[in-house]
Amino acid sequence: MDSNSTAKNLVVYFSMPETTEPENMSREEELSTVVIDGEVLGNTQYVAYIIAENTGADIFRIEPVTPYPLDHSELEDIAQKEQSENFRPEIAGMVEDIDQYDTIFFGFPNWYYDMPMIMYSFLDQYDLAGKTVVPFVTSGGSGFSDAISTIKDMEPDADVVTDGLSISRNVVQDSKSDIIEWLTEKGFIQ
Ligand SMILES: Cc1cc2nc3c(=O)[nH]c(=O)nc-3n(C[C@H](O)[C@H](O)[C@H](O)COP(=O)(O)O)c2cc1C
Repeated sequence: MDSNSTAKNLVVYFSMPETTEPENMSREEELSTVVIDGEVLGNTQYVAYIIAENTGADIFRIEPVTPYPLDHSELEDIAQKEQSENFRPEIAGMVEDIDQYDTIFFGFPNWYYDMPMIMYSFLDQYDLAGKTVVPFVTSGGSGFSDAISTIKDMEPDADVVTDGLSISRNVVQDSKSDIIEWLTEKGFIQ
C-alpha cells in the first residue's frame, strides 16, 4: 500500500443550530439551520457531513462542556463575552488518537468576525504539526474574516490551506454539489 491509500482524514467542527424543531422556526433559527428529511442540522454541521461522506473522513463534533443557550440573544451575549475575555470554553470529550490523521478539515461558523472561542480551545489543546489543515466556514457573509491567519499562527508547523471553503448561510442548503466540486478540485476526492 502506498502512503495515500492509508491516509486518514478527520472532520472537526463546531456548529450551533438554534433549534431542534423543524417546524415554525423564527428567522434566526431558520438562518442557522438546514432541514434534511425532517432532521435539523446546523449550517456548519451540514457542510461537515458532506465533507465526511465524500472523503471517507471520521468526524468529531466540538461541543462545550457547558452547553450554549438556544435563545439567539442569549447566545450572542455569551459569544461576545467569551470573545472580549479571550476565554477558552472547555471541550467535552476528546479526539481519539489525533496522530492517526493526515488531514484535518476544520469547520466553524463565523462569530463576530472571528472563530468561536471554542475553536481556540481546540487549537490550544491539540498539536496539528505535520498535518494538512483545511479550514471551512459558514457565515452571514463575513466568510473567514482573519481566522485562517489565526489558525496558521496557532499551528505554525501545520500545512494550513489558505484558501479554505467558505459558504454563505443563504445558500448552504443547496451547496452539496459545490462542496463536492471544491473537494475534487483540491484533490481531496480522487
Ligand atoms: C453569536 C453569533 C455571531 C455571529 N457573527 C457573525 C459575523 O460576524 N459575521 C457573519 O457573517 N455571520 C455571523 N453570524 C452568523 C453565522 O456565522 C451563520 O449563521 C452560520 O452559518 C451559523 O452556523 P451554524 O448553524 O453551524 O452555527 C453570527 C452568528 C452568531 C450566532
